[in-house]
Amino acid sequence: MKFAGSHILSVSQFERADVEHVFTVADRMRPFAERELMTKALDGAILGAMFFEPSTRTRVSFGSAFNLLGGEVRETTGFEHSAIAKGESLYDTARVISGYSDVIAMRHPESGSVSEFAAASRVPVINGGDGSNEHPSQALLDLYTIRKERQDQGGGVDGLRIALVGDLKYGRTVHSLCQLLSVFKNLHIVLVSPKELCMPETIIEHLRQAGHTVIESDQLEASISQVDIVYSTRLQEERFSSTQEADLYRGRFRLNQAIYTQNCQPNTVIMHPLPRDSRANARELDVDLNDNPNLAIFRQTDNGVLVRMALFALILDVVALVEKEARPV
Ligand code: CP
Repeated sequence: MKFAGSHILSVSQFERADVEHVFTVADRMRPFAERELMTKALDGAILGAMFFEPSTRTRVSFGSAFNLLGGEVRETTGFEHSAIAKGESLYDTARVISGYSDVIAMRHPESGSVSEFAAASRVPVINGGDGSNEHPSQALLDLYTIRKERQDQGGGVDGLRIALVGDLKYGRTVHSLCQLLSVFKNLHIVLVSPKELCMPETIIEHLRQAGHTVIESDQLEASISQVDIVYSTRLQEERFSSTQEADLYRGRFRLNQAIYTQNCQPNTVIMHPLPRDSRANARELDVDLNDNPNLAIFRQTDNGVLVRMALFALILDVVALVEKEARPV
């Protein structure tokens, strides 16, 4: 794919070579993210960060990534602090903000909204999550983490065995991750969810047509015994019609150290896009796993900065300039 000047709206834009190109650039960003080197490659550039749904990781790591490349960030968070609360359309907002920015990262509660915004934007737009639809930069950082964890264990992504657990109906991270994984070979994917919250059939069919094995289950313990990765997710309560409806499924699949020890192989890596729900009646990923060396959740969040730096460098076509401008910190 051509990165320079492009929107990043869906993982369907990426072929395998594109994914590997992003990861190669992300690897080159590590000395900057780890403060060994600094660069002013994006000096004078502005990121418009528009987050109309709660976010900690995506919003802050997009901002940090842009700052680490030498650029500045202007933020709008929440509809209540935007003229959208006065009835302004996405079209008008996009025309205005794209006049103030060189690139925009956006999160919005409605599926398809970021694409609608991008169609009116005069600068590239990155989808930071649109409703239950997609979260492409999260899928890229998840896959970058999977690749790194597998490399550290002497393996690769081809042939991976992974269990995706939780709310697979509304979870945009797993929608994007499944589609991105499909460009690799011979995957064994176990989808663990209540039947009412299963992965959309179109995504399962896409995986099967790409030659992967897909198994659906509503049993956690039996599903995690033969996998390399367990990827847990939060119940997406904000997508349910009521708290009472969400309560029907809350706490259904809980992974803790005892269940891990009894069921998983010793090297099984534990992932989660975060936030994990720490409330007593949820706890899909227990804090008693915090000292488990295979818990990769904070390696995922650190990798998010590298991957988002790579996306900015590619979209704004400054990969070579980042290194040309490199200075010791
Ligand atoms: N993983 C993720 O999207 O986290 P935030 O909601 O905190 O951005």
